[in-house]
Amino acid sequence: MFHCSTRRFWEPEYEGSDLNLAGWVKKLTGKPTITVGSVGLDTEFMSFISEGKGAGIVKIEGLSERVERGEFDLVAVGRSLLVDPYWAIKIRDGRWDELIPFTPEAAQTLS
Ligand SMILES: Cc1cc2nc3c(=O)[nH]c(=O)nc-3n(C[C@H](O)[C@H](O)[C@H](O)COP(=O)(O)O)c2cc1C
Repeated sequence: MFHCSTRRFWEPEYEGSDLNLAGWVKKLTGKPTITVGSVGLDTEFMSFISEGKGAGIVKIEGLSERVERGEFDLVAVGRSLLVDPYWAIKIRDGRWDELIPFTPEAAQTLS
């Protein structure tokens, strides 16, 4: 059984702790969880769905450390991968300047 949190993975779910929803669910249930939400991007998914807004690129600081600490088990990537199938390879190799932003124009090429 998995549980996903959404929006922006770096936003704490409750005051007083850095844990996001995936982190809380794992802590309280002991079940494996997947985090998701704006990995590598600066705006949340819902702003694209409701307003057609694009998203710029941001560094994913601290994400691998949070996985290594066991806060959550997997990381889901949506828009970053939709516009760039080489996203994971570029992140692995530190090729930040080659990442492609999730622009409305790029999104239009998906359908
Ligand atoms: C064009 C587009 C289509 C999507 N279609 C679906 C879908 O059919 N089912 C679903 O559960 N989520 C869908 N999503 C949501 C993604 O699975 C993901 O939860 C969301 O984009 C958050 O991740 P992100 O912030 O990394 O983009 C879609 C997202 C985008 C941008």
